[in-house]
Amino acid sequence: MKKFFVIGNPIEHSLSPKLHNFLIQSYDIKALYERKKLEENEIEGIISKIRKEEISGINVTVPFKQKVIPYLDELSLEAEKTQSVNTICFKNKKLIGHNTDITGFRQSIEKINFDMENKKIFLLGAGGVVPSIIYALNKMKVSQIKISNRTIEKAENLKNRFENLEIIKWGDIPEFDVVINATSLGLKKDEIINIDFSKVGKNKLFYDIIYNPGQTHFLDTGNKLGNKSENGKLMFIYQGLAAFDLWHGVKPNLTDQIIKLIAQ
Ligand code: ATR
Repeated sequence: MKKFFVIGNPIEHSLSPKLHNFLIQSYDIKALYERKKLEENEIEGIISKIRKEEISGINVTVPFKQKVIPYLDELSLEAEKTQSVNTICFKNKKLIGHNTDITGFRQSIEKINFDMENKKIFLLGAGGVVPSIIYALNKMKVSQIKISNRTIEKAENLKNRFENLEIIKWGDIPEFDVVINATSLGLKKDEIINIDFSKVGKNKLFYDIIYNPGQTHFLDTGNKLGNKSENGKLMFIYQGLAAFDLWHGVKPNLTDQIIKLIAQ
């Protein structure tokens, strides 16, 4: 029986076991996928179990997407560019770090038929997933990315890596076509982002990376003003399907059954 894990801290909220165990059963694969809460000093140990072939693969979530990198042999181009790994594989005796968040975000945008080309983006947050979002947005040829984070130094660090960023003071709102919440605000029900969106108008896209809960206060605000909204559910599912492909060599199609499984 092959074993897979998602590691992070906290980890209780992760729906990865639900998604992967459903796919594992659908394809009649002999495997089990579990969540594991780790402390930072346990990362090396669990990764070494992949090399010993006691574990077949690992998904990585907050706050370890960068911290796992020193223990890997190779990175995919996307993982290298973003310094962010969410999927670890063992191929030809090498531990390889991949980043499937990028394709997850991109495919979620394609699925809702939204054209990112030449759009003005306002990005909130500067945490672990943000380099992947920026990388994907640049690939989709957006015209500009303005970024705002409570701790401005973290936005400045990102600007050193992605030159086209423009930093906005936390609380200010620039002109935009798409606003993306990549902060953790909203993970707890009723948590509010302390930015006043009441004057931004309509016909924009409000995108929340959070998928659980499915409807955040941020998305509610966008809807009430007459904007489109999308939560992180499709991004989450697509990153999982891409990880499944890397491990098992089959790329599952997105089905209504999968969407329902993950709907909160
Ligand atoms: P990490 O920062 O460890 O990578 P994360 O969950 O990926 O963790 O990122 C959390 C994001 O939510 C950060 O952008 C964080 O802002 P700071 O960099 O200032 O910490 C943001 N965030 C969390 N709580 C917040 C709050 N109360 N107000 C504003 N932003 C908040």
